[in-house]
Amino acid sequence: MIHPVIMAGGTGSRLWPLSRQLNPKQFLKLTDQHLSMLQLTVARLDGMESADPLLICNEDHRFLAAEQMRQAGYKDTRIILEPCGRNTAPAIALAALQLVKNIDENQNPLMLVLAADHLIKDIAAFQSGIQKAIPLAQEDKLVTFGIVPGHAETGYGYIQQGPELGENSFSVSRFVEKPDQKTAEEYLASGDYLWNSGMFLFGARTYLQELQKHRPDILAICQAALDDASEDLHFTRVNESVFAECPEDSIDYAVMEKTDNAAVVALDAGWSDIGSWSALWEVSEKDSCGNAFSGDVIAHNTESTLVRADSRLVATVGVKDLVIIETKDALLVAHKDQVQDVKKVVERIKNDG
Ligand code: GDD
Ligand code: MG
Repeated sequence: MIHPVIMAGGTGSRLWPLSRQLNPKQFLKLTDQHLSMLQLTVARLDGMESADPLLICNEDHRFLAAEQMRQAGYKDTRIILEPCGRNTAPAIALAALQLVKNIDENQNPLMLVLAADHLIKDIAAFQSGIQKAIPLAQEDKLVTFGIVPGHAETGYGYIQQGPELGENSFSVSRFVEKPDQKTAEEYLASGDYLWNSGMFLFGARTYLQELQKHRPDILAICQAALDDASEDLHFTRVNESVFAECPEDSIDYAVMEKTDNAAVVALDAGWSDIGSWSALWEVSEKDSCGNAFSGDVIAHNTESTLVRADSRLVATVGVKDLVIIETKDALLVAHKDQVQDVKKVVERIKNDG
């Protein structure tokens, strides 16, 4: 039996103005009219033999998270609340510690760590990838799911494939998180590397042992913050002042780059990380001019443009390669090639108070 652990504590700032501090992207309906990214993540597990998902997110989003999980059919699912974001290495440590609480020392529950903000089009392929990963995780490997890279993306981790371990499964020779542009281009050209999808399968104790080896400081603080957690209904609220002292780090830097115990299952499941507006445009259904529109939109002579009109009519004339996101209180107009910089707008808003 696997235990899905859903990480939902990110900020999604590149998807401003739809993604906001109080309503970040994992809680938004971005690729589906009815389900949020979190709800799609949970729905993807349907039909698998798995425990109720364990959710880990920021305290500020507790009601949003609980309500969306309830709508998805998980009324009593456990939600771990972080008082502040310390990135994924601590978040996964808290989840692992929660899973091994009060169980026998020789039990090592398998945790399927999922990001709450990915799109996966082929659910059958996703589930079959997980089945392939189970025996590897049972042999104490840290299994990640690799995607054949499409371009020299610098926002992802890269996995160099080692010897074959089974069908579509390899040991990991090297894991490099977010390389610079030149390195990413070399990796792409070599044909030796897969992208890290940011989903993992491993035993909870296996992860904790690796973290103990590479970042004992993070593990010690997470243990203390969870020992001092308060429980209220299905929320586990970790101790605020203890957790505030936790160093910030992602699982990718803290563990995956350092361990020599990783394996990768290659996944061809129509995976994408909806990290920016251009990524959303790419996965959206488009008309014959390459436009993806939602809401009330009138377009004339418009090409390869994403328009999302939430509260007003939006009209475009003679434009190309734009992203136009209209919401009640803010409007974004950006070139599709520069949407990574939308986060700079968010920084400005924060700094200007
Ligand atoms: N609970 C919690 N707390 N969740 C968090 C936190 C945190 O402090 N920080 C991030 N998350 C969640 C996000 O909501 C997202 O679902 C997931 O963890 C991954 O975090 P991102 O911040 O989106 O990571 P990334 O996209 O930069 O990089 C990761 O994903 C890439 C693929 O999308 C890495 O694993 C890369 O190696 C990978 O290629
Ligand atoms: Mg991401």
